[in-house]
Amino acid sequence: MHITEPNPTAFSQSEIQQTLEMEPQVLAPTGIQKSSSMRLPGKVAVITGGARGIGAGTAKLFAANGAHVVIADVLDDIGAALAVSIGGRYIHCDVTLESDVEAAVNLAVTWKGKIDIMFNNAGIPGRDGSITNLDPGDTNRILAVNLQGVLNGIKHAARSMIRTGTRGSIICAASSAAVMGGLGSHGYTASKGAVVAAARSSACELGEYGIRVNCISAHGVPSEMLVGAFRRILGRAEMAAEEVAEIVGERGSLVKGRGGKVEDVAYGAVFLASEEEAGFVTGHNLVIDGGYTCADGNMSFIYKED
Ligand SMILES: NC(=O)c1ccc[n+]([C@@H]2O[C@H](COP(=O)([O-])OP(=O)(O)OC[C@H]3O[C@@H](n4cnc5c(N)ncnc54)[C@H](O)[C@@H]3O)[C@@H](O)[C@H]2O)c1
Repeated sequence: MHITEPNPTAFSQSEIQQTLEMEPQVLAPTGIQKSSSMRLPGKVAVITGGARGIGAGTAKLFAANGAHVVIADVLDDIGAALAVSIGGRYIHCDVTLESDVEAAVNLAVTWKGKIDIMFNNAGIPGRDGSITNLDPGDTNRILAVNLQGVLNGIKHAARSMIRTGTRGSIICAASSAAVMGGLGSHGYTASKGAVVAAARSSACELGEYGIRVNCISAHGVPSEMLVGAFRRILGRAEMAAEEVAEIVGERGSLVKGRGGKVEDVAYGAVFLASEEEAGFVTGHNLVIDGGYTCADGNMSFIYKED
C-alpha cells in the first residue's frame, strides 16, 4: 500500500503564487548580507611557513581582508620583512619543535588577546626516488615537518581557542598527493594523507567548542618547493616558474592551459578561515587542483560528438 504522508514543508498553490509575485529583494536571504567588505575583519591568524610561497600569499590576502597576521617560519629575513609590510608580526618557528609552535600561538595571544585562525602550512617535499631505496632518515624528517608540525599546530591553536572561548578555524596544508598517487615522493605522500586523517579526527573532537578543522590540498603551484622538485627530477637547474606553470596547465589540470597559483590557495584559505562563509564546513579537504584528481582527462574523448 502506498501511503502519502502529509508534508509539513510543502507549499500550497496560493502560497507559491504569492511568493512568485513578491519583489525580488524580499526573496533574497537576509543572512548573506555582508557586514563588511573585509572578509576577516579583526581576526588574528598564525601562518606557519608564511615567509614565502603559498603561506606568504595567504598572509597578504588575510591582511588585506582585515586580519592581524603572525608569520612563523625558519626563513627569518624574508619572514620578518613580509610581516612588516603587512603590519603583522614575525617569529622564528621550527614547526617540528612543539615549544616553537606554542610560542607562535602565544605571540598572537599576547599581541591581540586570542587566535582565531591557525594555518598549518609549513611543509617540505622529501627526497624523490624509488620506494625500494627509501631512506628512513628522510621519512622521519618529512613526517616531523609535514605531520608532527601540523599536529603541533592543531594542538596549541585548539588549546588557546578553547581557553579563550574562540570559535576558530584551523586549516592544514595537505596536497593533491593525499588524494591521488603519483604526485609526490613516497614520504611526502604518506605525510599528506596522514594530515587529512588527523584533521578529520581533530574536527570530530573540536566541533564541540565550535572550532572547525579543515585541509587545503593545493596542486601544481609553482612555488620554490614545486619548481625545485621539477629542476631536480628533470635535471634542469635553469627551469623557470613560468615553464612549470605551463606544464601543469597542459598536463596536470582539467582546465586546459591553467595551472595553480598561490592566489588560488590563498582565496581557499580565506574562505575556510571565515566563520561567516564557511561556518558549516569542517572535516573537509578543499582540493584546489583544476579538477586534476577528480577525473581522467585522457578519457575525455568519449564526450566528443561526431
Ligand atoms: N606548491 C604546490 O603545488 C603544493 C601542492 C600541494 C601542497 N603544497 C603544500 O603547501 C604548503 C606550502 O608549500 P609551498 O608550495 O608554498 O612551498 P615553499 O617551499 O615555497 O614554502 C614552504 C614554507 O615552509 C617553511 N618551512 C619549511 N620547513 C619548516 C619548518 N620546519 N618550520 C617552519 N617553517 C618551515 C619554508 O621556510 C617555507 O617558507 C606545504 O605544506 C606544501 O606541502 C604545495
